[in-house]
Amino acid sequence: MSNFPDTLETKIERTVAILRRAVLENAPVAFASSLGAEDMVLTDLIYRHTSAVSDFTLDTGRLPAETYELLEAVKVRYGRAPRVYCPQAEAIEAYVDANGPNGFRNSVALRKSCCAIRKIEPLRRALRGHKAWITGLRREQSVTRQVLESREWDASNGLFKYNPLADWREEDVWAYLRAYNIPYNRLHDQHYPSIGCAPCTRAIAPGEDIRAGRWWWEQPESKECGLHLRAAEEQDV
Ligand code: ADX
Ligand code: SF4
Repeated sequence: MSNFPDTLETKIERTVAILRRAVLENAPVAFASSLGAEDMVLTDLIYRHTSAVSDFTLDTGRLPAETYELLEAVKVRYGRAPRVYCPQAEAIEAYVDANGPNGFRNSVALRKSCCAIRKIEPLRRALRGHKAWITGLRREQSVTRQVLESREWDASNGLFKYNPLADWREEDVWAYLRAYNIPYNRLHDQHYPSIGCAPCTRAIAPGEDIRAGRWWWEQPESKECGLHLRAAEEQDV
């Protein structure tokens, strides 16, 4: 075995193989796209190299304008785009009535309940009827993701989860996006390496952790919205 790091081509081949295996082993498969940089790599690979993978995005209602612009750019580029899932209006109304539109700033519990309404419930609906889902998670993204496998059992959602970019580095993602001229969120050019909802995402300073701009008022250990929990973590939500 070579001691040299994998080239981008090797990583691409392995990633396409994982995507195809997901379809062979666990169809129907759905790809969850936040339209972040990683997910644009996967969008391109899935649209060009696989069939029978459906894709969706969770529109929390609080996304930055740049993310909606990218959704339109994807349609223009590929002639297709992820299906959009929205939260239940009644749940949002009750939350805002009780806690205010930005109640998520008041405690970790209120932040997690906002994510539950705006992301987790729509995710459960989007995954219904599927045997596996695909994400753009990478190991080096955070302390909560260091043990990520390229295929794992997702106990909280009851289906397999494929993370084909688990071993990609940030520079691999950007090398791919540039090499294939893939559209990406303009906020990435303004020091937003990780993008979620507008009120819960800010730009990072040079040298800061790539997820430092997400829920910046919280500790790194609590910085998951609940989309990617392991069974042992569910009780904390
Ligand atoms: S988060 O849990 O902190 O919000 P992050 O933004 O790092 O997640 O994205 C990790 C992966 O979760 C993405 O690659 C994507 O597969 C999925 N994901 C996150 N946000 C969304 C979204 N709004 N819609 C669909 N999938 C999402
Ligand atoms: Fe609510 Fe912020 Fe979570 Fe978005 S990221 S669902 S605005 S708490």
